[in-house]
Amino acid sequence: MKENQRPLIISIEGGEGAGKSSVIDTISRFLSEKQISHIVTREPGGVRISEKIRDIILNKEHLEMDAKTEALLFAAARRQHLIEKVLPAVQTGKCVVFDRFVDSSLVYQGYVRGLGIEAVRGINEFAIEGFYPDLTLFLDVTPEIGLDRINQNPDREVNKLDLEGLHFHKKVREGYYEIMKQYPERIVRIDADKALEDVLLAVVKEIEQRV
Ligand code: TMP
Repeated sequence: MKENQRPLIISIEGGEGAGKSSVIDTISRFLSEKQISHIVTREPGGVRISEKIRDIILNKEHLEMDAKTEALLFAAARRQHLIEKVLPAVQTGKCVVFDRFVDSSLVYQGYVRGLGIEAVRGINEFAIEGFYPDLTLFLDVTPEIGLDRINQNPDREVNKLDLEGLHFHKKVREGYYEIMKQYPERIVRIDADKALEDVLLAVVKEIEQRV
């Protein structure tokens, strides 16, 4: 399928407590109202095998996991998800809304864990073979504000990466700033410190311009 005929592929990225879930619900509702068929899916996960890999990666008992093992597992989960679910959807003309995608690996494994963005891009390009989103919305939240929000949400599943401190979350933000410089056309920053209604308005504005 030629790039210009492909349905819109969107990914949502950001640190913890940025409001990703509400943003994704809003995008899905917006696309449904416009009668644009789409799927919403998440990484790591999205299909049975990749959800199992997710459980291995994010298990709170797996603290001894090596950073490269982790990066390879994220890429493996991504590959399976792409082949089994995302590409078939795209081939039938459906838009895709990703709750995290390849940029999460560039940031968390490449930048924050220190494996290097280039090295992590390499293993991911092996996995995705050029399948980058058309639009990536980076929900940029100040780490202190994001952590405050997740601490106030008792229902949220706590994973291995949530056990990291403020320093980690600051590095995550720095990592996103770094990759924004590398993909200025694709990645759009949304100020997620703002009230949720304002964040959602900004998101809908970006999507509206592209459908
Ligand atoms: P979630 O909390 O948004 O579901 O994401 C799960 C965690 O996995 C989150 O802390 C970010 C992390 N992650 C990576 O480190 N690399 C990746 O490639 C992906 C997709 C997620």
